[in-house]
Amino acid sequence: MNLKGKDFLKLLDFSSEEIGGLIDLAIDLKAKKKNGIPHRYCEGKNIALIFEKTSTRTRCSFEVAAYDLGMGVTYLDPTGSQIGKKESIADTARVLSSIYDGIEYRGYGQSIVEELAKYSCVPVWNGLTNEFHPTQILADFMTIKEHFGSLKGIKLVYMGDARYNMGNSLMVGCAKMGLDFVACAPKKYFPDADLVAKCKEIARETGATITLEEDPQIATQGADVIYTDVWVSMGEPQEIWQERINDLGAYQVNKALMQNAKKSAVFMHCLPAFHDMKTTVGKEMGEKFGRQDMEVTDEVFESEQSIVFKEAENRMHTIKAVLYATL
Ligand code: CP
Ligand code: NVA
Repeated sequence: MNLKGKDFLKLLDFSSEEIGGLIDLAIDLKAKKKNGIPHRYCEGKNIALIFEKTSTRTRCSFEVAAYDLGMGVTYLDPTGSQIGKKESIADTARVLSSIYDGIEYRGYGQSIVEELAKYSCVPVWNGLTNEFHPTQILADFMTIKEHFGSLKGIKLVYMGDARYNMGNSLMVGCAKMGLDFVACAPKKYFPDADLVAKCKEIARETGATITLEEDPQIATQGADVIYTDVWVSMGEPQEIWQERINDLGAYQVNKALMQNAKKSAVFMHCLPAFHDMKTTVGKEMGEKFGRQDMEVTDEVFESEQSIVFKEAENRMHTIKAVLYATL
């Protein structure tokens, strides 16, 4: 696998072997970290992190991964730079790539990160766009591999808004890596038809399957992984909550739904999650709509089947693999 100098913008740009190689590299780097073996392979390099949306996991993972690799980091928060407001993406790319060895971008349209990469002469990494969240999928698949021993043939059911970054990226990842992917949602939340067609084409070569299903009972039968994400994503208006609760309420991951899957099934979520009233938004929306939880119940989130915190930890190890491989 030689990814030196390559951007990491979406999984569609990578072969199954490359994605598998990054996951294995992350497993190796995780073992090094746990055993206190230094791995300052990128000593002397510096990277810039652009966040036009907020973050806990992704930002911290990029920072710690960079420090462990011996690099310096600059964090540009959603308000602290000229990007987009006073300076175009093309100009920003040319300025930052003359100073840094790599640039991470989290923001809105996928076209923005693609444009940044076009004008940058150093690798650009996608830290989440409206359409894709590729570093999250590496962590998810690493976690699945650690838990089940392999990826091929695993049935992963994604519940909820399947046409946004997480649904799209999981579908692409499953297609590339030979999993059985089911998007379970009302029809209007199914992924984009062109992307589904592309994934089905990839699936023909990898042995994956891609299914769109409206019925949660049918979708989750025999599932190994039940995955969900927030019903309202960053950048979407607060007013949309009512509509989402109406549309997606029946797709909540609760105990009854988990019991419909395999006994050995696990629950996954990219986080952050609305599983209780302990957040400002969770409390406000919970009180407004008379609910204790949204996309997942607290019972499932806190259950033995939930592997969400292992998944969150693996964000760091997989992002480190991407940084090391591309630099
Ligand atoms: N899962 C994820 O990307 O989390 P953050 O928004 O905290 O980075
Ligand atoms: N769909 C969510 C993912 C967060 C990691 C969002 O875009 O807000």
